[in-house]
Amino acid sequence: MKNALGVVDSVVVLGGRSEIGRAIARRLVRDGASRVVLAVRGGAAADAAVELGELGATVTVVDFDALDVDSHERLVRSIFASLGDVDVVVSAVGELGDQARYEREPAAAAASVRTNLVGHVSTGLAVAACLRAQGHGTLVVLSSVAGIRTRRSNFVYGCAKAGLDGFALGLADALHGTGATVMAVRPGYVHTAMSAHVPPAPMSVTVEDVADAVADGLRRGAVVVWVPQRLAGVFAVLRLLPRSVWRRMPT
Ligand SMILES: NC(=O)c1ccc[n+]([C@@H]2O[C@H](COP(=O)([O-])OP(=O)(O)OC[C@H]3O[C@@H](n4cnc5c(N)ncnc54)[C@H](OP(=O)(O)O)[C@@H]3O)[C@@H](O)[C@H]2O)c1
Repeated sequence: MKNALGVVDSVVVLGGRSEIGRAIARRLVRDGASRVVLAVRGGAAADAAVELGELGATVTVVDFDALDVDSHERLVRSIFASLGDVDVVVSAVGELGDQARYEREPAAAAASVRTNLVGHVSTGLAVAACLRAQGHGTLVVLSSVAGIRTRRSNFVYGCAKAGLDGFALGLADALHGTGATVMAVRPGYVHTAMSAHVPPAPMSVTVEDVADAVADGLRRGAVVVWVPQRLAGVFAVLRLLPRSVWRRMPT
């Protein structure tokens, strides 16, 4: 549970090898968090566990497959039971994928939507039930500007992020008044391995920028966090562009 100064103590990262998820965990541990659970595919995250351990956290790694939706409720309950109390859960799973391949292979496109959206729904609802029972805690959902207005160049990824963003905001409304909260994080281009093959977009940020914005959003009790913040204004305008212009937008 957060201490008297509002410092987060316990953190869970679903997709715990995610570069952004790891940066958020590092930031929260530097700020005082002492216990971290990394839920990862295959159940091994030695590098992440060591770096968080060196910062002073007690780290547990558990096996988690975002595609195995039937296992999520049980897994989330067992993580909450093992920690006793959870302040922050970061839902960090994602894959950018290859739009051209998705247009050739519809089944691969559907599989990516299962990763980028469906798994977040089953874990998110399970986390929400546990947070509601506690009466406090925040689910941080890594959405993306890609879902704010889907682009021709990556609309399969974008449609999953649009669904995920809507899910996060709806869940935030569902939890209103319970003490539990949801924060949707909308980064633009973040410099990570996931995005390395895509030319950096204007206003690109680092994983540390995202972590700083999340830490600040947690302090403020924000429901939506844009990274960088000025993308909120940019997208207010971009959403109004005529479709004939929008469809020619580069990646
Ligand atoms: N990078 C950007 O520009 C950017 C911008 C906006 C939003 N985001 C979002 O931020 C989140 C984190 O992205 P990132 O940049 O940190 O990318 P990342 O390092 O590639 O992290 C994504 C993580 O998702 C995990 N994952 C994928 N499928 C999984 C599955 N079936 N079960 C369990 N884990 C699975 C991966 O696990 P493995 O380690 O096993 O591969 C990986 O650790 C994603 O949701 C992404 O869409 C990223």
